[in-house]
Amino acid sequence: MSLQGKHIVLGISGSIAAYKSAMLTRLLIRKGAEVQIVITPAGKQFITPVTLSALSGKPVISEFFASGDGSWHSHVELGLWADMMVVAPATASTLGKMAHGIADNMLITTYLSMKAPVFVAPAMDLDMFRHVTTQRNLEILQRDGVQIIDPTEGELASHLEGKGRMEEPEKIVAILEECFATKKELAGKKILITAGPTYERIDPVRFIGNFSSGKMGFALAEECAQRGAEVLLITGPTAMSLSHSAIRRIDVESADEMHDAALKAFPEMDAAILSAAVADYRPVQRAERKIKRKEGEGLTLTLTPNPDIAAALGSIKREEQLLVGFALETDNEESNALGKMEKKQLDHIVVNSLRDEGAGFGHDTNKITILSRSGGKRAFELQTKKATAKDIIDTLFAST
Ligand code: PMT
Repeated sequence: MSLQGKHIVLGISGSIAAYKSAMLTRLLIRKGAEVQIVITPAGKQFITPVTLSALSGKPVISEFFASGDGSWHSHVELGLWADMMVVAPATASTLGKMAHGIADNMLITTYLSMKAPVFVAPAMDLDMFRHVTTQRNLEILQRDGVQIIDPTEGELASHLEGKGRMEEPEKIVAILEECFATKKELAGKKILITAGPTYERIDPVRFIGNFSSGKMGFALAEECAQRGAEVLLITGPTAMSLSHSAIRRIDVESADEMHDAALKAFPEMDAAILSAAVADYRPVQRAERKIKRKEGEGLTLTLTPNPDIAAALGSIKREEQLLVGFALETDNEESNALGKMEKKQLDHIVVNSLRDEGAGFGHDTNKITILSRSGGKRAFELQTKKATAKDIIDTLFAST
């Protein structure tokens, strides 16, 4: 049983679905987990701490201080103790506080101290769930590495029908088990990943760049780390953040900086996956001061090629090292990608096309085909970048 002996912090917030947390606690205990419940003040309006402590075998934590002796409940210690935190039910208010770090109750301070993976199981009325604010908060949390257990459709407390019912406890337990069951098949491997765009400065206020958000590269980094690899992520400018402690992040701005960081690190690596959208050219000259607009006059920039990072790594690659590139194409996808694989001495190339809706820059989804030097070809349907990262890593390390 994969939950045997695991330390789980169960956060409960104020929703009618809190009655399901009693069953969730019981199932987790039956699986051999140790459960520490942290409940919000509103949560206690829906289910009593007495019921929950009887089921979990531990006092339920709600306040910052114990009411009996005034001793401090340490959210920091809980953050270190836990192998996982799951907030179920997670109300719109709790999701909002988590997304924005509003630490006004013990559940949120515990979340902010958490070192382990965090799951949330939202529960709310359908209009609240689909409201742009809730969706934005879920997006922020997802970007911060929180895993969302999607609510299901059905009759809600409002007696309306729709999406917003907290997932059933049995299903939540199965999802948590799957997380622990994930094989650490990349343990001992060092993987370099490049992500995001590069910015090539024209003057102090302008640059040449592209629309890469970093989402694809960050999903790859998280996936590799989850499978036990030591990850070095070299990223161009992006708003993305990471949740995994096994990922070392180096922030760079230009192709030159990314080139230097990647070349320095590569000899120590077992593999490099190059998902960054590196600018192919940079201005020959960078103006020291802001270039002023001159009425009626055009502006000509002279560009010079940037170093090709993939080709540079390809030229020093050792036999046992794996080198993987990406190709973002608008036409002749496969033949262009095969040409790049050859020229840059890559072992595999992941092709995505701007002709496919939902694929490429910025989206949370991607649609890829993986071409291999050995002649292999695997095509995947449109799916989240997280699922895409899983498929890429499954394919690249199929035999390890
Ligand atoms: O960041 P997201 O918004 O999630 O978007 C993801 C993505 C679309 C950026 C990603 O999936 C992707 O396709 N990345 C490669 C984009 C690209 O422009 O590739 P390219 O065809 O220019 O380059 C081919 C390969 O050579 C790539 O691995 C690239 O990282 C590498 N390269 C390119 C130029 C250069 N000077 N140095 C390089 O290493």
